[in-house]
Amino acid sequence: MSIKEEFYKRLSLFVIISTIIISAIAIVAGRNIVINDMKDKGDSIARILSSVALDSMLIYDYVTMERYVREVVNDKNIISLSVIRSDGEIIAKAESRKTGEESYSLRYPIKIGESAIGIIDISFSMERVNSISKRIIISAVVFIVIVHSIAFIVNNMIINRLIILPVRSLMQAVRSLRDGSLHNRIEIHSKNEFGNLASAFNEMADTIERNFKEIKEKQLEIQAEKGKIETIVKSLADGLFVTNMDGSIVTFNPAAVVITGYSEEEVIGRQCEDIFKTRLCEDACALHNKDKTICNKESEIITKDGQRRIVSVSSAIIRRWDGAILGGVQVFRDITEEKQKQAMMCHAEKLAAIGQLSAGLAHEINNPLGNILGYARLMLKDRSLNDKQRERLKIISEQAEKAGMIVNGLLNYSRQQEFKMERVSVNNIIDSVIKLLSLEAEKNNIKILTDISDVRDIKADKRQIEQVLFNIIINAIQAIGSDGIIQINTSMKEDNYVEIRIKDTGHGIAPEHISKIFDPFFTTKPVNKGTGLGLAVCMGIIKEHNGTIDVESKYGDGATFIIKLPVYA
Ligand SMILES: Nc1ncnc2c1ncn2[C@@H]1O[C@H](COP(=O)(O)OP(=O)(O)OP(=O)(O)O)[C@@H](O)[C@H]1O
Ligand SMILES: [Mg+2]
Repeated sequence: MSIKEEFYKRLSLFVIISTIIISAIAIVAGRNIVINDMKDKGDSIARILSSVALDSMLIYDYVTMERYVREVVNDKNIISLSVIRSDGEIIAKAESRKTGEESYSLRYPIKIGESAIGIIDISFSMERVNSISKRIIISAVVFIVIVHSIAFIVNNMIINRLIILPVRSLMQAVRSLRDGSLHNRIEIHSKNEFGNLASAFNEMADTIERNFKEIKEKQLEIQAEKGKIETIVKSLADGLFVTNMDGSIVTFNPAAVVITGYSEEEVIGRQCEDIFKTRLCEDACALHNKDKTICNKESEIITKDGQRRIVSVSSAIIRRWDGAILGGVQVFRDITEEKQKQAMMCHAEKLAAIGQLSAGLAHEINNPLGNILGYARLMLKDRSLNDKQRERLKIISEQAEKAGMIVNGLLNYSRQQEFKMERVSVNNIIDSVIKLLSLEAEKNNIKILTDISDVRDIKADKRQIEQVLFNIIINAIQAIGSDGIIQINTSMKEDNYVEIRIKDTGHGIAPEHISKIFDPFFTTKPVNKGTGLGLAVCMGIIKEHNGTIDVESKYGDGATFIIKLPVYA
């Protein structure tokens, strides 16, 4: 219901109730006046009649009294009049024609001294009283109608001017403020409550506009800061991800995408543990570590393609201005290669130490060994020796030769030999090694096949490279045992490297041995069959030539050795 209707309803109610009350009071007052008037009239009639009645009663002249009574009853307001003696006998009575109508009766005593000798009974007509009441009611109804009409007009005029229009303009201003027009103000036309309200609204709108402007400025500053932080996060070389309180990821930077293989869309909203599938989050997230800042903790992750990578993680809690925890930020760096390098360095140092020891040992053993071999050979020339002695000397000489070979291997490995670097053809070296080993291969029904490309010459010590190929092919023959193929390919790699691949159909290398086969003295062969120096020597020689040597193998499915050597520049 609108204010106008509400106001009109209340005003109507007020007018009706007040008019009814006033009318009731007026009716009661009017009736009292008329009744008092009747009483006065009754009084004077009774006074006159009582003296007439007294005289008449004393002289028993009831006719005169009857006449008086009839005359009095001629009054249109009197219905009946009776003079009654104290013994109850009616001595005179007159009734007007209006019998049966509503009446008001009064009784007056007829006295001699203090004793009553009769009563005068007068009945007045209530017609006057009722007609006054009727008039008052009609006036009240007319009044209500007039007041309603006036109220309706006044309601429209005053309420419109004083309330509706100001309220409408206030509502319009509030709506436009709500819709974002902060500069709209209300025009103030009066100094009443609405005027005050409008000016309070204008002040409020001023404050809101000012605050909004400040908020906008702060928002722009925050956006600029956010942009800066985003750029820093994006350009970080380390992976970074932010988790909220429940551990789900909310930020994932490009470096993290590169390290893990997951795209940003794949990880946002998911739990840290679901993505990395390791103890990384439990280990490194400050949220899980009672707010402890984690610094460069070594952990690991499993990438999207299933690789296990070692990472160094640092993390911290992110707090709101009031100290409440919002989540955690984790920065991680892939240190897998670093770790491998470290391991390799350790390994290299170990090998270098072995190399030095071997070099010293070989040097010391070489001379006595030369003497043993020399004397054994010299003694073998002695014709006086019997067969048994000759046989024993042969064994001494063979074993000394074998020991000499080991010493040579050790010397090779420890690079104590001088290299004679020259321009050589890889394909020629391969040919000469195959020639050397063809008999051995044929004996075991092994075919050595080649697929030789027209590769460039390399700068190398021919004998040393022959030694490398020899060792690798001998290993392949031993791994095959009998009936198999050795395939040798050459090709150019990256324009300035010649690649030699030697593939065999032997038993292959067990995964746990792959990382050890280039270590000196590592062998899977029986005690007298292998020294474990062959591949160690190969590695030493290839390194001296600034090349690389690698192996690919599946246990039970042969092995492929890949050698890369730089071309002759
Ligand atoms: N082609 C191959 N197939 C399978 N295993 C191989 C192959 N080449 C090398 N290996 C493994 O690597 C080990 C080390 O080889 P390496 O040549 O260094 O020593 P060795 O052959 O055992 O002994 P040595 O060469 O001194 O006679 C071997 O014992 C063998 O287990
Ligand atoms: Mg060998």
